[in-house]
Amino acid sequence: MKSASARIPAGQANLGTDLSDDHPISFKYDAALVSADGQLRPPPASGSVRLDGNNELQCTSCHEPHDSQNPSFLVVNNTASALCVTCHDLKNWGRSSHSLSTKTWNGTSPNPWPHTKEKSVAANACENCHNPHGAGGKQRLLNYAAEEQNCYTCHNGNVAAKNIMAEFNKPSVHPVINNTGVHDPMETTLVPAGANRHVECADCHNPHASNPGTRGVVGGVSGALAGVRGINLGGASVSQVTYEYELCFRCHADTAKGPSVVSRQFPQLNTRLEFQPASGTNSFHPVVSIGFNPNVPSLKSPWTTASKIGCGDCHNSDGSPGTTPNGPHGSAYKPLLERMLSFADTGANPGNSALCFKCHNFVNTAWSRHVEHIGMTSCMTCHDPHGSPNPRLINFNPNVVTGARSYQAVGVSHGTCVLSCHGKEHNSTAY
Ligand code: HEC
Ligand code: HEC
Ligand code: HEC
Ligand code: HEC
Ligand code: HEC
Ligand code: HEC
Ligand code: HEC
Ligand code: HEC
Ligand code: HEC
Repeated sequence: MKSASARIPAGQANLGTDLSDDHPISFKYDAALVSADGQLRPPPASGSVRLDGNNELQCTSCHEPHDSQNPSFLVVNNTASALCVTCHDLKNWGRSSHSLSTKTWNGTSPNPWPHTKEKSVAANACENCHNPHGAGGKQRLLNYAAEEQNCYTCHNGNVAAKNIMAEFNKPSVHPVINNTGVHDPMETTLVPAGANRHVECADCHNPHASNPGTRGVVGGVSGALAGVRGINLGGASVSQVTYEYELCFRCHADTAKGPSVVSRQFPQLNTRLEFQPASGTNSFHPVVSIGFNPNVPSLKSPWTTASKIGCGDCHNSDGSPGTTPNGPHGSAYKPLLERMLSFADTGANPGNSALCFKCHNFVNTAWSRHVEHIGMTSCMTCHDPHGSPNPRLINFNPNVVTGARSYQAVGVSHGTCVLSCHGKEHNSTAY
C-alpha cells in the first residue's frame, strides 16, 4: 500500500500518518470529560459542530468535506477562533489581551502567523500560539516546541508594544531558554528539583488570562499575573496569586534553590522564611508585612515605615520605567536587579549602590558613624537585603567581617558590635 505522503503532496494539506501533532480525535466527549477537564463546554448537541454517533470527536466535528463555504472546509469560520470556543471555555479568555488586541504585525521576520490567513492578534486568537495540525510543541499543540518561542514571535517588538525577548539577552536573566520539554502545565505547584528545575514564560504567566489590568493599591497583582498559581506565606498552594511574592515562592522558597549571591553569617535561601515576621526581633524588608522598625530616618518620600514593597521593586528590568517592560525578565545588574549594586569591599555611594539609594538617603541616618562606614565597604557587607534573625537587617558577609561576629541593637539608634573587619577589632564596641 502506498503511504499517505506518496498520494498527497507535501504541504499544509498533508497531515502525515503521525497524528500526535494534530488536534486529538476519536475519543468520547461526554459529561465526564467536561467535568474532568474543567474548561470545556457541554458536548455540542446540535448545530454545525457535531460529534459522531458514538459521541466521539472526529475530523468531521471540525470539517465538512462537502461544503467549502468556510476556508479549509471548516464547519464554522474560525476567525477569532469561533470554532475552537464552541467547545473550549477557558477561564478569563474573554478579558485576555490575546483575545482582544487588534495589534497587527510590522512585517519584520519571523511571521507570527505562518499557518493562518488572519492578520491581527484578536482574529488569530487561539492560533496565535496553537496549531490544530502539525504543531511543533505536540503535547499542547503549541506552534513551537521551545516554549518561549511561542511568545517571542510577538513579544520581540514586531507585534506587542514592548520587546520582552531583548530582556532575555541581558547578563542576568530568568533562564527561559535553558530547558525545552521539562515544563508541564500539570506539574505540582512546587517546581521539581534537580535537572527538572526550570522556568518558562508559562510558569509566571497564564497566556489565556493575561490582561492589561494594573496592580491594586493594596495587594492585588497586575493583569500580567492573572490566573497564575503560587505559594502563600504559610506555604500552601493558591490557584490565583494575590501578591506577586506568592509567584516567586513557587521556586525560591521551599523547593530546590539556586546559589547564594553573597555569603552570609546566617545563610537562608528560603525567601518565604527570610521575609516572615517571625520572632518580633528579626528584621526584613517589608514585602509580606510592614516592618518592625519605626525609626528609619533615611527613607526617601514616598516611602515610610508604614510602606510595603514588592520583590519587583528590587528585582526588575533595568532601564527607564515606561519604555522597558516591567517584570524580572532580564537586567544588566546581577542578580536581576533594577539598578546597580556593588558587592565589592570598597566604599558604597549613590552611583555604585543605586538600588538602595532608590528609597534611602543618608542625609538623615539613625547611626552617626554610618556615612563613615559606608565610605569603606558595600552595604551588602553588613546588611542582608531580604531578612535576618538580627534587627536592622544586619547579617554580615563572613568573607569580609571575621571573628566572633555578633550584633545587638540597644533601643533606638544604639547598638554594640563584636567583630573584626579591615584589620580592626570591635570588642563589644558601642554606638
Ligand atoms: C478541532 C478541530 C479540528 C479537527 C478535529 C480537525 N481539524 Fe483539520 N483543520 C482545523 C482547522 C482550524 C484548520 C485550518 C488551518 C489552520 O487554521 O491552521 C484545519 C486544516 C486542515 C487541513 C488543511 C487544509 C488546508 O487549508 O490546506 C487538512 C487537510 C485537515 N485540516 C484535515 C483534517 C483531518 C484529516 C482531520 C482528522 C484526522 C482533521 N483535520 C481534524 C481544525 C480541525
Ligand atoms: C468539537 C469540539 C472541539 C473543538 C471545535 C476544538 N476542540 Fe480542542 N479539544 C476538544 C476536546 C474535547 C479536547 C480534549 C480535552 C481533554 O482531554 O481534557 C481538546 C483538546 C485540545 C487541546 C489540548 C491538547 C493536549 O494534547 O493536551 C488543545 C491545545 C486544543 N484542544 C486546542 C484547540 C484549538 C486551538 C481549537 C480550534 C482550532 C480547538 N481546540 C477546537 C474539543 C474541541
Ligand atoms: C498567547 C498564547 C496562547 C493563546 C492565545 C492560547 N493558548 Fe492555549 N496554551 C498556551 C500555552 C503556552 C499552554 C501550555 C500552558 C503551560 O505550559 O503551562 C496552553 C495550554 C492549552 C490547553 C491545555 C490545558 C491547559 O489549560 O493547560 C488547552 C486546551 C488550550 N491551551 C486551548 C486553547 C484555546 C482553545 C485557545 C483559544 C480560545 C488558546 N488555548 C489560546 C498558549 C496559548
Ligand atoms: C500573536 C502575538 C502574541 C503572541 C504569540 C503572544 N502574545 Fe502576549 N501579548 C500580545 C499583545 C498584542 C499584547 C497586548 C499588549 C501589547 O500590545 O503590548 C500581549 C500581552 C501580554 C501580556 C500582558 C498583558 C497586557 O495586556 O499588558 C502578557 C503577560 C503576555 N502577553 C504573555 C504572553 C506569553 C506568556 C506568550 C506565550 C505563551 C504570549 N504572550 C504570546 C501578543 C502576543
Ligand atoms: C518557575 C520557577 C520560578 C519562578 C516562579 C520564579 N523564579 Fe526566579 N529563578 C528561577 C530559576 C530556575 C532561576 C535560575 C537560578 C536558579 O536556579 O535559582 C531564577 C533566578 C532568579 C534570580 C537570580 C538569581 C541569581 O543567582 O542570579 C532572581 C533575583 C529571581 N530568580 C527572582 C525571582 C522573583 C522576584 C520571582 C517572582 C516574581 C521569581 N524569581 C519567580 C525560577 C523561578
Ligand atoms: C523600594 C524601596 C526600598 C529599597 C530599594 C530599599 N529599601 Fe531598605 N527599607 C525600605 C522601607 C520601606 C523600609 C522600612 C521598613 C521598616 O520600617 O522596618 C526599609 C528599611 C531598611 C532597613 C532597616 C530595617 C530594620 O528592620 O531596621 C535597612 C537596614 C535597609 N532598609 C537597608 C536597605 C539596603 C541595604 C538596600 C539596598 C539593597 C535597601 N534598603 C533598599 C524600602 C527600601
Ligand atoms: C530591597 C531589595 C530586595 C527585595 C525587596 C528583594 N530582593 Fe532578592 N535580592 C536583593 C539583592 C541585593 C540580592 C543579592 C544580595 C544577596 O543575596 O544578599 C538578592 C538576591 C536574591 C536571589 C538570589 C539568591 C540569594 O539570596 O542570594 C533571589 C532568588 C532573590 N533575591 C529573590 C527575591 C524574592 C523572591 C523576593 C521577594 C519575596 C526578593 N528577592 C526581594 C534585593 C532584594
Ligand atoms: C520569573 C517569572 C517571569 C517569567 C519567567 C516571565 N515573566 Fe513576564 N512578567 C513577570 C512579572 C512579575 C511581571 C510584572 C507584573 C506587574 O506588572 O506587576 C511581568 C510582566 C510581563 C509583561 C508586561 C510588561 C509591561 O511592562 O507591561 C509581559 C508582556 C510579559 N511579562 C511577557 C513575558 C514573556 C513573553 C515571557 C517569556 C519570554 C515572560 N514574561 C517571562 C514575571 C515573569
Ligand atoms: C559597617 C556596617 C554597615 C554598612 C557598610 C552599612 N550599614 Fe546600614 N546600618 C548599620 C547599622 C549597625 C545600622 C543600625 C543603626 C541603628 O541602630 O539604628 C544600620 C542602619 C541602616 C538603616 C536603617 C536606619 C536608617 O538610618 O534609616 C538603613 C536604611 C541602612 N542602614 C542602609 C544602608 C545602606 C543603603 C548602606 C550602603 C550604602 C549601608 N546601610 C551600609 C551598618 C552598616
